[in-house]
Amino acid sequence: MRKSTISATILAVLIGVAGSISLVQADDAILAQREQAMKGMGAQMKTIKDLVGSGGPAGDVVAPAQKIAEIAATIPGLFPEGSGGDEVRPEIWQNWNDFVAKAQALGNEATMLAAAAEGGDMATVGAQFEKVGGACSACHKAYRE
Ligand code: HEC
Repeated sequence: MRKSTISATILAVLIGVAGSISLVQADDAILAQREQAMKGMGAQMKTIKDLVGSGGPAGDVVAPAQKIAEIAATIPGLFPEGSGGDEVRPEIWQNWNDFVAKAQALGNEATMLAAAAEGGDMATVGAQFEKVGGACSACHKAYRE
């Protein structure tokens, strides 16, 4: 009896250890995906900034703007509750609806940027690009350390 209780305890501990190891791995994976997504948006922003600086062509802004909108849609999924992160404020999970709304706002502004770029007027593109940047900073100010 005693022996099997002990081995059951050991088994439970081993399962517990294996469980926490896989949790840590899942966390690392999500943090890596998150970093990739954010840096990906940073790279698209740089491309657009250069195009705005050189006065176009407006058509070249369409693809990077759409890419930002696509990535924005994935943001909430990259912040599962308690996933942590170096520069993450826990307020994200206390104000979850607001966090999601800020990700959606970025998606909307980026979609409008793609539309402006299709329209071809670089002044409109430049003005809408500022709004996309504003949507990045609105979330960073509230939720990034
Ligand atoms: C809805 C909220 C939200 C929006 C919108 C948002 N970010 Fe972030 N971003 C964060 C948070 C939170 C972090 C910190 C993540 C961490 O430390 O794990 C971050 C981190 C970053 C980083 C650092 C990534 C790293 O790990 O090195 C970059 C670069 C970045 N964001 C770029 C952008 C750009 C560019 C935009 C707009 C096109 C944007 N973000 C929009 C919330 C947001």
